[in-house]
Amino acid sequence: MKTDYKDNKKEFVYQMFNKIAADYDLVNQVISLGSNKRIKEQVVKNVILEPCSNILDVCSGTGDLAMNLVKYSDKNYKIIGIDFCENMIKLAEEKAKEFDNLKFIQGDALNMPFEDKTFDACFIGYGLRNLEDLRKGILEMKRVTKKGGYVISLDMGKPKGFINTLFRLYFDNFVPLFGKILHGNSVPYRYFPDSSKTFPSQEELVEIFKELGFSEVKNYNYVFGAIAQQIAKV
Ligand SMILES: C[S@@+](CC[C@H](N)C(=O)[O-])C[C@H]1O[C@@H](n2cnc3c(N)ncnc32)[C@H](O)[C@@H]1O
Repeated sequence: MKTDYKDNKKEFVYQMFNKIAADYDLVNQVISLGSNKRIKEQVVKNVILEPCSNILDVCSGTGDLAMNLVKYSDKNYKIIGIDFCENMIKLAEEKAKEFDNLKFIQGDALNMPFEDKTFDACFIGYGLRNLEDLRKGILEMKRVTKKGGYVISLDMGKPKGFINTLFRLYFDNFVPLFGKILHGNSVPYRYFPDSSKTFPSQEELVEIFKELGFSEVKNYNYVFGAIAQQIAKV
C-alpha cells in the first residue's frame, strides 16, 4: 500500500478495497468464523419496511446487504448500492445482474448524488468505520432519507469484559496473519483491527445518532457485542 491510513484515510481505504476486492467475500466469511452471512440476513430482517420502498445501501462493497434485501423480501423494493471502489462495484454488479430492481453506482458516501429525502431507508454495512468523517457520513445518509425513514448501520462493536480480551486477541493477531498468508502482506489487514479500536462502541454510536437528531435509536448486538447494528429513525 502506497498510502498509510494515518496520513490519508480516504485514499488508503480506496486503494485497499480496490486491491482486496476479489478476496473480500472470502476474507469476511473466514474472519467472522462463518457468521457474516447469517448476521447480514438478520440485519435486513430487523427492519420492517413498506412494499416498494426505495432503499440505499451505502458503502455497498460486493453488494451482500443489497442482495439480502432482494432475496429475503417479496416486497419489490427498489435498491441502489453506492461505493467509491470500482472493483467492489464490478463484483456487486456481477452478483446482481439477474435483478432489475437492484443497481450499483460509483460515488462518495460523504457527498452522494441524490436529492434530499429520496430513500425510505439507508443501510450501511461495515462502512461508517471506514469514512474519514463518521458524523458527516451519518448526516449525509440522514439528508437523503425521508422523514420517518431509517438509517441502519452494521459495524464492529465493543464487547464487555473478558469477551473483549478474547476478541481483541483474535482480531489483532489472526486477521493480519490471515492477510499475510493470503496476500503476503499484512498491512491492509492490520487496518481492520486498528480501525475497530478507534471506532465508537455501540453505546457511543447510539448517543451520536441521537445527538444528530435521530429518534427511536435501537441497538442489536451480535456475537456477544463484537458486531452491532443500530436502527435510527429520521
Ligand atoms: C468493509 S467494506 C463493506 C462492504 C459491504 N457493505 C459489506 O457489508 O460487506 C467497506 C466499503 O466501503 C467503501 N467505502 C469506504 N469509504 C467510502 C466512501 N467515502 N464512499 C463510498 N464508499 C466508501 C469501500 O470501498 C468498501 O467497499
